Amino acid sequence: MSDESVAKRIARLRELINYHNYRYYVLDSPEISDAEYDALLRELRQLEAEHPELITPDSPTQRVGGEPSDRFERVEHPVPMLSLSNAFGPDELRAWRNRIARILSSEAVEKLAYVVEPKIDGLTVVLHYQDGLFVLGATRGDGYVGEDITANLRTVPAVPLRIPIAGDARPPRRLVVRGEAYMPRVAFERMNAELSARGERTFANPRNAAAGSLRQLDPKVTASRPLSLWTYQVVLAEGGETPRTQWEALDYLRRLGFPVNPLNRRFEDFEALVQYCIDWEPKRKELPYDTDGLVIKVDDFAIQEQLGTVGNAPRWAIAYKYPSEEAVTRLLDIQVNVGRTGVLTPYAVLEPVRVGGVTVRNATLHNEDYIREKDIRIGDMVVVQRAGEVIPQVVRVLKEVRTGDERKWHMPKRCPVCGEPIVRPEGEVAYYCVNASCPAQLVRLVEYFASRNAMDIAGLGEKQAALFVEKGLIHDIADLFYLKPEQLLELEGFKEKRVQNLMNAIEAAKNRPLARLITGLGIKFVGSTVAETLAQHYYSIDALMRATEEELVQIEGIGPKIAKSIVDWFSRESNRRVIEKLRAAGVRMADVAPETLEEGKRPLEGKTFVITGTLPTMSRQEVTEFIVRHGGRVTNTVSRRTDYLVVGASPGSKLRRAQELGVPIIDEEGLKALVNEASE
Ligand code: IVH
Repeated sequence: MSDESVAKRIARLRELINYHNYRYYVLDSPEISDAEYDALLRELRQLEAEHPELITPDSPTQRVGGEPSDRFERVEHPVPMLSLSNAFGPDELRAWRNRIARILSSEAVEKLAYVVEPKIDGLTVVLHYQDGLFVLGATRGDGYVGEDITANLRTVPAVPLRIPIAGDARPPRRLVVRGEAYMPRVAFERMNAELSARGERTFANPRNAAAGSLRQLDPKVTASRPLSLWTYQVVLAEGGETPRTQWEALDYLRRLGFPVNPLNRRFEDFEALVQYCIDWEPKRKELPYDTDGLVIKVDDFAIQEQLGTVGNAPRWAIAYKYPSEEAVTRLLDIQVNVGRTGVLTPYAVLEPVRVGGVTVRNATLHNEDYIREKDIRIGDMVVVQRAGEVIPQVVRVLKEVRTGDERKWHMPKRCPVCGEPIVRPEGEVAYYCVNASCPAQLVRLVEYFASRNAMDIAGLGEKQAALFVEKGLIHDIADLFYLKPEQLLELEGFKEKRVQNLMNAIEAAKNRPLARLITGLGIKFVGSTVAETLAQHYYSIDALMRATEEELVQIEGIGPKIAKSIVDWFSRESNRRVIEKLRAAGVRMADVAPETLEEGKRPLEGKTFVITGTLPTMSRQEVTEFIVRHGGRVTNTVSRRTDYLVVGASPGSKLRRAQELGVPIIDEEGLKALVNEASE
């Protein structure tokens, strides 16, 4: 970026951040998520770090929080409120401890103890007491000056109006404590339901609800809101006890009658603390209120003082946060992936970003329509989401931070891998590369052909498939059966033993049941279930090849889309050549039809089976193969023509249907017994 555009960008970012600060702190009505806000601030900080000459005193990076609103009186905090630095995960937590250990003497390090507190996701409040009476309550504001919300805080039952509530603690002359006001989740949901029933504005989350409720001009409204409080810090105690540690301070607060979170813990063993933080993650979801992590504090106040602060944050405390499942990053480019069936899937190339504990570099964009609907452009700041094992996806664009340099994207006219023209079939959202010898498709197809559900060739995965295609060893799936050990031995990482194993696996694959071969061809819409249906109906590739669409749609479970796809596939010359090559290599092309099975090998002849649930020892595919091998048929729906329902654990609705129709129900044992009895 030129210096001029950097300056422009910085100005734009400041404007945006100020605007969102105002929405958040003054209007209580944020438009963007915390992650999005953080991304803006991060970008500004980075640009300012690279160009320190552009930092101005009024930059949003130069202060702690937002402007206090002039709806309330201003309250200057006796001690400025700092922020906390974050540690994501155990390693960053250990790094924090190592940093502080380097500053301290070895004796101090020896006796370091820590207090761990849940980090409540609410609104920070500062409570002032004079001779035991609650006299003033304030929000955090910008860290130096907050808003006077005394009248509202008086309505919160957890805020003591007079201390001590009970017991023998002497009231200090002056006391200032900090805590977090929050709304329990259940109360939040109930309140939102009531608000929406009255047609009033609802809140996005409990945090906003707590903030909105406390920053009301009418305390009666606050009083009607289910708010609560946990206190965690003694800011000032004149004429009272002087706790020397955080643990003592928490105890003092408790004795004075303040609500103190019972989940606070003290640790002397740092590794035990780390483990506690790790174990906390699943538990926090069960709490009745929202937390956004844990706060870890050095227990001893003298040591806290010695450690001091860096920038806005104390060195003696850190927030342990759990990786968020959403993050904001820049979309650097949009590229297209070519799948096994030739389907073209656009995906985002991202500036690497941590989401849910892993670094994400790519995210799916699904299809061209998705990109158009969300108006996703190259150069955009985007929100990336990752849920569990699911592929990360771009969920939305931060349009408000656009600079005008973003570029619209269009699906390329040709396959990015083979350069052949692409097509978009009518009624589909996806584009396809229909070139059967497109190398990208070939890699995916070979991988799929060899996969567990198809020809089950151990030792042949994506890496090997890509290597074989790249080295020109295979041009179609049939070439796999023509590989020679000498060729493989020349490849990096292929030692004698590994080559032998792979050759054996390929040899074994020649004799798979027909359904697996059909699956492995990679015909669009033909997965292992459809392949099984086809195999049971036709018994051979040759019969299937001759099938017409009209004929195929007669088969239960085969619709017009599948039928057309099958006929199209077999009508292509290149595909027929592959079939002939497979045949010539000795790959099995047919199952034995029941009528040609030897006597005694067809105990299940003429019988139709349906399978539901999980069987103890056989996979769905194995049971099907077992039944077919013994002359039976397997269909997917229970009807009057079904002879047996084979039931495993957690059966589906098929079980009820079979009971209604009076279809005999057997388990895996029963199925095996049918075969054995008949062959005896
Ligand atoms: S101690 C010097 N303890 O988290 C830091 N803060 O970024 C003093 N918070 O808005 C903060 N629970 O109000 C501390 N147990 C806890 C907390 C806690 C929530 C909030 C705090 C502030 C933010 C710190």
